Amino acid sequence: MSLPVHGTDTNLADSTIVAALPRLILDCDPGHDDAFAILVAAAFGELIGVTTTHGNVGVELTTNNALTVIEMAGLEVPVHKGMSRPLLAPLRNATRVHGETGLAGARLPAVATEAASTDAVGFIIGTVRETEDVWLVATGPLTNVAAALRAAPDLSERLAGISFMGGSAGCGNVTAVAEFNLAADPEAAAMVIASGVPVIKMVGLNLTYQVLVGAETITRLRAVGGGLSEVTADLIAHYAGVYDELYGWRGAPMHDPCAVAGVLIPELIGYERRWVEVELRGEHTRGMTVVDERPRLDLTQSNLEVGYTVDAERMRDALVEAVARFS
Ligand code: RIB
Ligand code: CA
Repeated sequence: MSLPVHGTDTNLADSTIVAALPRLILDCDPGHDDAFAILVAAAFGELIGVTTTHGNVGVELTTNNALTVIEMAGLEVPVHKGMSRPLLAPLRNATRVHGETGLAGARLPAVATEAASTDAVGFIIGTVRETEDVWLVATGPLTNVAAALRAAPDLSERLAGISFMGGSAGCGNVTAVAEFNLAADPEAAAMVIASGVPVIKMVGLNLTYQVLVGAETITRLRAVGGGLSEVTADLIAHYAGVYDELYGWRGAPMHDPCAVAGVLIPELIGYERRWVEVELRGEHTRGMTVVDERPRLDLTQSNLEVGYTVDAERMRDALVEAVARFS
């Protein structure tokens, strides 16, 4: 897979026009897989900003982790710190998987820069109002995204679309039916899905569990050479080790880069239109994405594009290429 040339270089002499890369803001909660989502977003798209949210760990730590990844990759992308708590749900974390720091398993350099602001929601609103064709890609709880859409409903007519990692058209992970990002803030997810944004793409666990990274990817990353490749290889070694302990799997699911690929490398992900609701009240089902899979002729009765198939091998290639780009 050849990485696209950045920007809108045109060389009219040979009448070769390189199309502009899709432009995106990445809202995330780094998190091992979020770290790779940042790198894939920067390598294959025009990443105009990163916003951070509570999620895997507290927002202070997710912000620090986002800054660390961006510094290690030598990126010039602003990071804006976001919401520290869900809209209504109690705060939860995923330290069992990602460790107390959120990026356990690697020796990380001390953060040298600071967040550009502590107003992620204001950054999202201002940027989308001033910039054409912005995608909002979310790989953590949807608190910032919901807050931005609630404060500025006009964004739904300006956004190119929303692509999020969350939910599942199958089993959950934090409960039998609920996935972490949506379980962390179900009200936010329901608000985003009902926001009226015309294009909303969802990759859930049913898809991301198909993209496992383990020993082979670690070897490929170490072969790239350099500090970033070592750190990313170490992160996957930790992450894969946790899934081996938890489930006996030979690799860990690379959830978040799939939401990025849905926008930047769309040929890798197969979507189907579905009507999806988020369960808010069920004693055993709160946070579940209820995906209506009944046969349907009238596709106007659908509100999301739900991911079902993925080219896992090429997703793994994209991870390695993104690390190589910035090593
Ligand atoms: O359930 C998987 C999701 O929860 C991923 O985004 C992972 O980073 C965690 O946030
Ligand atoms: Ca995440």
